[in-house]
Amino acid sequence: MNEFANAQKRVAELTKILNDANYNYYVNDNPQITDQEYDKYLRELINIETEYPDLADPNSPTKRVGGQVVDKFNKVVHERPMLSLANVFNEDEIRDFDAKIKKEGFTPEYVCEYKIDGLSVALIYEQGKLVRGVTRGDGVTGEDITHNVKTIKCIPLTLSKPIDIEVRGEIFMNKSTLQKLNAEREKAGQPLLQNVRNAAAGSIRQLDSRITAKRELDNFIYYLPDPEKYGIKTHLEALEFMKSLGFKVNPANRLVSDIDGILKFIAEITEKRSKLPYEIDGVVIKVNNIAMQEKLGYTAKYPKWATAYKFPAEEVLTKLTDIIFTVGRTGRVTPNAVLEPVIVMGSTIRRATLHNEDYVLSKNLMIGDTVSIRKAGDVIPEVVEAKFERRTGNEIPFKMIHECPMCHSELQKIAGQADYYCQNPDCPKRNIESIIHYVSRDAMNIEGLGDEIVEELYNLGFIKNITDLYTLESKKKAIMEFDGYGEKSLNKIIENIESSKNNSLERLLYGLGIKEIGTKTAKLLASEFGTLDMLMQATEEELESIRDIGSITAKSVVAYFKSHQDLIAALKEIGVNMTYKGVNNGTNDLITNKRFVITGTITGIGRKEIKEKLESYNARVSESVSKNTDVVIVGANPGSKYQDALTLGITIWDEAKTLEVLNNLQ
Ligand code: IVH
Repeated sequence: MNEFANAQKRVAELTKILNDANYNYYVNDNPQITDQEYDKYLRELINIETEYPDLADPNSPTKRVGGQVVDKFNKVVHERPMLSLANVFNEDEIRDFDAKIKKEGFTPEYVCEYKIDGLSVALIYEQGKLVRGVTRGDGVTGEDITHNVKTIKCIPLTLSKPIDIEVRGEIFMNKSTLQKLNAEREKAGQPLLQNVRNAAAGSIRQLDSRITAKRELDNFIYYLPDPEKYGIKTHLEALEFMKSLGFKVNPANRLVSDIDGILKFIAEITEKRSKLPYEIDGVVIKVNNIAMQEKLGYTAKYPKWATAYKFPAEEVLTKLTDIIFTVGRTGRVTPNAVLEPVIVMGSTIRRATLHNEDYVLSKNLMIGDTVSIRKAGDVIPEVVEAKFERRTGNEIPFKMIHECPMCHSELQKIAGQADYYCQNPDCPKRNIESIIHYVSRDAMNIEGLGDEIVEELYNLGFIKNITDLYTLESKKKAIMEFDGYGEKSLNKIIENIESSKNNSLERLLYGLGIKEIGTKTAKLLASEFGTLDMLMQATEEELESIRDIGSITAKSVVAYFKSHQDLIAALKEIGVNMTYKGVNNGTNDLITNKRFVITGTITGIGRKEIKEKLESYNARVSESVSKNTDVVIVGANPGSKYQDALTLGITIWDEAKTLEVLNNLQ
């Protein structure tokens, strides 16, 4: 035999050894060779592939470490749409789901499975070889992530049979992997990933597969779209079949014959959930019989034969170590719970608002209490209750303060209301909060000026009020003398302040912090009056004649402008726009109230025009990507913002998607 043929034979042997080793380690959890042996074989294979590049199979186990870099994610239309699942939240809704199926004349058996918290993937194999991995996308079109899928060790590159098949499942990150990753990110000063799902999504949407390989993603396969093709009659058989092909199938599934069986499964996993190595957010209930599934059919979005029971908001116990008071821009003083840090739904909770005195008293909270904390999804955490049975007698009763914690002036309580207010207009905390409000996302939307920077610039005497924001250019040198302020970041902030002068009137109106004027009323007033001058001339009666404006709001507006003529004149002098620019009052689910970043060029439409269109639907367009960004529009030749979006797992719109959405606006 010649050398090449020898090498070829050895490649086949090594591929089998390494694939088997991977399978035993990552799917069966039953390693058969040591890590050292694995590395030795892998190195040998890499060496042969380097010497004979023709022998490097695209599905070689050497591809597990990544290396392939793509310049964009290609779109792939799913052969069959990737549907989502309808949700149920309680026993009654589970009974409704079952009743609807029975009404169709069926007596179903169900398979209960864990609902894995990750992102779904379609894997396509030809002749037993992995040819494509695709994200769900919008269900019809997904993105090609093959290069990254190959780095997930439990996903077979070659099946045990040389068949053509598509399977679907969930890519996820184990809890311990996220912890490890976040510890590294913290050290490197990078933003932490909020939860396993974002972490998995961000990791799989990498152009460079070496990054994905390092994220140690995991996978369970739970769905075979075309079971009849393989003569399969039940979902359980499909799971068994996919397992026999080499896929990792979650063994924690159960066939049940009625609702009691479903409820028992849910009760058991609710108990065990926190001990699982991966996050689950519910239980998926599927009709087992495939013929029955097909007869029940599908809606546009969901199969009618399956549903997802979602766990209620997670509650955990922690200690209320203190109650501290904060002062808002209106002077309102709020008690806040200081908590022993706990992780709820994947994020660490240290504080929770306690709203006001009455709220704390109604819950009878004491400092030192063990309390339960609840958080649902991305919702703000709340203190549910104190565990009175855990009291030791050393708890300290709550006492409302009567002096402003910042300026020590006496607090006042408005009769009939729960809140206490600091009345001192020069209270530093109130001023700081007013500036923070002015620059905030819903107001003037000045990026880069976070709460801490505002507070510091205030304390250092550089800004005492909102008009001072426009003087930062002249103070640049002095500010830079303080640690932590680089010229580049400062220039960026000043640039953002400058461009915010062009904002439409409603942002200014909201940013001024007039009592009773939220974003909605600000928009209403701006569109009714068109200019600030016109609004300032309006009488209480005129204001009240507008639908949705009551007498309290009308009074507040008139009183505000009466006492703030100088401020408005100063802002006008500075060049802050005071006219309403909105051309429509329309809303669009994809745009309204979302925060966008644009990078690269989109054919046929300028960046300014995109920005204006988005803003006319009340979106915010900012310069840099942060975890608060909702969508990044990526055109041709994008900058580093694209990479930032991928790292943070933020939704990306390519040219086609952007044009489709923008062209469909009225
Ligand atoms: S079955 C046609 N089974 O939950 C049915 N989905 O909220 C396809 N998911 O899009 C889905 N664990 O990403 C199924 N055991 C499981 C699941 C599961 C997690 C995800 C999947 C789906 C989403 C629906």
